[in-house]
Amino acid sequence: MLRELLPKSQAAAAPISPVAHSLLGKHILSVDMFTKEHLNEIFNLAQMLKSRVAKDRPLDDFLRGKIMASIFYEVSTRTSCSFAAAMQRLGGRVIYMDQTSSSVKKGETLEDSIAVMAGYSDVIVLRHPEPGAVSRAANHSRKPILNAGDGVGEHPTQALLDIFTIREEIGTVNGLTITMVGDLKNGRTVHSLARLLTLYNITLQYVSPPNLGMPEEIVRYLASKGVLQKTMSSMEDALPTTDVLYMTRIQKERFASEEEYQKACGHFVVTPKLMTLASRRTIVMHPLPRVFEISKEFDSDPRAAYFRQAEYGMYVRMALLAMVVGARN
Ligand code: NCD
Repeated sequence: MLRELLPKSQAAAAPISPVAHSLLGKHILSVDMFTKEHLNEIFNLAQMLKSRVAKDRPLDDFLRGKIMASIFYEVSTRTSCSFAAAMQRLGGRVIYMDQTSSSVKKGETLEDSIAVMAGYSDVIVLRHPEPGAVSRAANHSRKPILNAGDGVGEHPTQALLDIFTIREEIGTVNGLTITMVGDLKNGRTVHSLARLLTLYNITLQYVSPPNLGMPEEIVRYLASKGVLQKTMSSMEDALPTTDVLYMTRIQKERFASEEEYQKACGHFVVTPKLMTLASRRTIVMHPLPRVFEISKEFDSDPRAAYFRQAEYGMYVRMALLAMVVGARN
């Protein structure tokens, strides 16, 4: 697959990278499975695919004839559409299933649905509201499953695209201070990102409304890996030392009542005025969707990286699909 990306003169002589197949046929369930080598492999491929797309070069030989099953038991815009776009740009096709228009309505179990969909497809992308459900489903799947978010659990492909974004925007991850803001208790993207960042040398700062801090288990895990973590009470305190400001949505669907949700809202909001406290090189990220936590007036600031981040997600998912499904050389 890597050979294809090289100019013709070099292509014949270029060896096929053995690492490119390191994820072949593997489930992607948690960030814990990744080594630094995996990440470099994924990011290098994503970068090459990005430049091929920019140059309008054909890529549809990669996964021609392959089928991806897109199964979302929870709503999604970016994850489902960027996976579908990724598969189609590589020449593959997509079939869809969700909980409202399928036999889930008749009482079919997740395990049964997955066993069936595995027979129709070459790879499955699955989102489910219950933490651990995607791993359970993987035990019933003959085909690789990519976790597209399991409740408040993990969102490994988002963490990959988040780190790819930092690399693309800043050039490096090591040495940076990353400030995570918002619903750190229920947000699966920060759970996966914090864990994956243990592969780098970074400092983490946390800013969250009362009772929505980073889960103790994750704080302990990071501490055991030597990551310096600081909990701060305001964005004003955190911004001067921040290289990457990672904003998150208050996860409304995880709250017991509207009243409790409302109490958690409005504490921390990015505005052009607030961002005068940050460096000109600080980038602002958000997995999206945003609700109130970044004001629209900030969108035109060059430091607003969140829409670029969403696009990077497609290239990272192209790389992952090519590696897991096994692209033609
Ligand atoms: C996130 C998710 O679904 O966890 N969105 C995404 O995948 N880009 C974040 C969120 O819903 O707040």
